[in-house]
Amino acid sequence: RLPTRVRIVEVGPRDGLQNEQQPISTDLKVELIERLANAGIATIEAGSFVNPKWVPQMAGSDEVFRQMGRTPGVQYAALTPNLQGAQRALEAGASELAIFAAASEAFSQKNINCSIEQSLVRFKPVMELAHTAGIPVRGYVSCVVGCPYQGEVEPQVVAQVSRQLLDLGCYEISLGDTIGVGTPASITRMLDAVAEEVAIDLLAVHLHDTYGQAIANIYASLLRGVRVIDSSVAGLGGCPYARGASGNVATEDVLYLLDGLGIEHGINLQAVAEAGHFITQALGRPNGSRAGRALLAK
Ligand code: HMG
Ligand code: MG
Repeated sequence: RLPTRVRIVEVGPRDGLQNEQQPISTDLKVELIERLANAGIATIEAGSFVNPKWVPQMAGSDEVFRQMGRTPGVQYAALTPNLQGAQRALEAGASELAIFAAASEAFSQKNINCSIEQSLVRFKPVMELAHTAGIPVRGYVSCVVGCPYQGEVEPQVVAQVSRQLLDLGCYEISLGDTIGVGTPASITRMLDAVAEEVAIDLLAVHLHDTYGQAIANIYASLLRGVRVIDSSVAGLGGCPYARGASGNVATEDVLYLLDGLGIEHGINLQAVAEAGHFITQALGRPNGSRAGRALLAK
């Protein structure tokens, strides 16, 4: 049965821009975030607080968080790998944190330079800090169906890591198909395994669209009862630790799907399409949203 309402987590300003090679000004990032908030998106991942040596584009996240105007009711989330990042994020005024683990040992090592188990140890002080500050924390699991280094990933491992993040105190677990290899069959198998450990209403899907399966995978996830979807305006992005992986599913495409299914989301699709046009023009990139392009051509 399909849900009646879905929450969108916009990850474009972080996941979408983190891999961009050309310099992007703080003003441009801020305008993108403000446009997305004005369009009615209630959760926006606005940046990350990681080692700038590895992800230079996010080095200015402190400045972004300090400069952007805040819309009441909007959560401005920051991706943080450890205590150092969490402290920086809170000082800059993040209203939500996201920690990120993986269901693949090889990816964990490449991405955050430690094992899955060590990463969970590193997250403990982050959770304590956030708890003291009264800030909610979201947990990501990467490589939920496939890993760029290790190949296929067992749904049981995804379920275990999801459970561990929940036990640490995350309010929601976002399941990342980092390299977009899933299909409705493998995504459904994975969701069924995870739902044994974590209630379906605490799960989100975070699907990169490398093989063009993301919209089909979202429909399959909705049919399983998932009510939170991560997406990126204009389909921006990719992961610096997953070569060849394309951006997340485009927010505009997801909203068009939800509208067609009669599922509420509270977002102005036209305004998101305009934000997608704005950012892709500014970056000199093609707009990766099919729905966005169609709406703008009207
Ligand atoms: P490490 O080398 O193990 O950390 O890196 P360390 O604690 O040994 O510190 C080494 C150096 O990093 C030190 O600096 C620290 O100060 C610095 P030095 O003394 O050499 O000058 N450092 C930091 N600097 C700034 N902010 C910090 C921080 N922490 C340490 N928070 C670390 C571990 C995780 C920090 C590193 O590997 C890193 O930053 N990796 C980048 C990971 C990343 O951003 N990946 C992309 C995002 S994840 C993603 O896209 C997937 C997702 O979208 C879901 C999906 O699609 O599946 C979420
Ligand atoms: Mg991602």
